[in-house]
Amino acid sequence: MSDPSTATESQPRRLVLANQKGGVGKTATTLGLASAIACHDGDQGGNVLIVDLDPQGNSTGGVGVEVVDGQLTIASVFDSKAQPGSLADVVVASAWDRVDIAPADEDLADLDESGNADMVWRLDAALDGVDLSAYRAVLFDTPPSLGKLLFSALLTADEVVVVTEPTVDSVKAVDRIEQTIQRVQRRPNRRLEFSGIVVSMDRGIAEHNFRVNELRDSYGVYGQGGKVCRTVVPAYAARQDAHSARLPIHRFRGGKALSLQVAYTDLARELGLLNGATA
Ligand SMILES: Nc1ncnc2c1ncn2[C@@H]1O[C@H](COP(=O)(O)OP(=O)(O)OP(=O)(O)O)[C@@H](O)[C@H]1O
Ligand SMILES: [Mg+2]
Repeated sequence: MSDPSTATESQPRRLVLANQKGGVGKTATTLGLASAIACHDGDQGGNVLIVDLDPQGNSTGGVGVEVVDGQLTIASVFDSKAQPGSLADVVVASAWDRVDIAPADEDLADLDESGNADMVWRLDAALDGVDLSAYRAVLFDTPPSLGKLLFSALLTADEVVVVTEPTVDSVKAVDRIEQTIQRVQRRPNRRLEFSGIVVSMDRGIAEHNFRVNELRDSYGVYGQGGKVCRTVVPAYAARQDAHSARLPIHRFRGGKALSLQVAYTDLARELGLLNGATA
């Protein structure tokens, strides 16, 4: 786990990676940003906490954590039969240097549907009073649904970044999640900011270029009063290879890994997640 002696004074930004559409790159972006921050030399980088809110546990596996029998997972935070726990009881060091994780497994699966309405506040309560100052960022990876797990992240976060592929269905999904974000902003979490849209898995084909421009026309460009990050993450097989090897992309060699490293570092810089970064 992260050494509190490296703590900075302030609490880190809490950033949710979201899209109810499946397979658009939420987990890849979570892990890519974590890799960019944790693997960055010197004090520009730092420690990262990933909170995995997806029953698929792809972020958990991606950082080399296997949940074992009896291990506390993020599901325990939502257990209405237990006393509200602290996130600190769940967080473990991952196989990646400077990355800790609140792991998830399939125990979360029923909660999105069957959990009671109060459960959405439990994550916020579990984070209450936890000293997160050792981390540069807390990244919440979320499931492909507009259910209670996503809601609980939106209630405790400072900002949400929507991840999308540059395809027609994925672009439509951005409008839908914007409505959910606005609903949360209107009342339960007024401090929540819909800060950015990350375009992931760009293959550089004409259709993808068209969709990226369409998004920029609708939402504007990040850093110029709009939302769409200038950095577009390309699609390269090295992402899957690094994921299978359970390695941060910045520690993976081969294929187009270098291009992905540059993209995720640029993205982290653009989102202001690296120290001294300019957006
Ligand atoms: N930049 C990329 N280049 C190539 N493949 C990618 C890239 N980003 C993601 N992928 C692959 O696309 C698939 C979906 O990505 P990912 O798991 O990150 O999406 P997701 O939105 O988290 O999915 P889910 O909604 O199921 O949680 C995975 O197989 C992943 O390895
Ligand atoms: Mg995922």
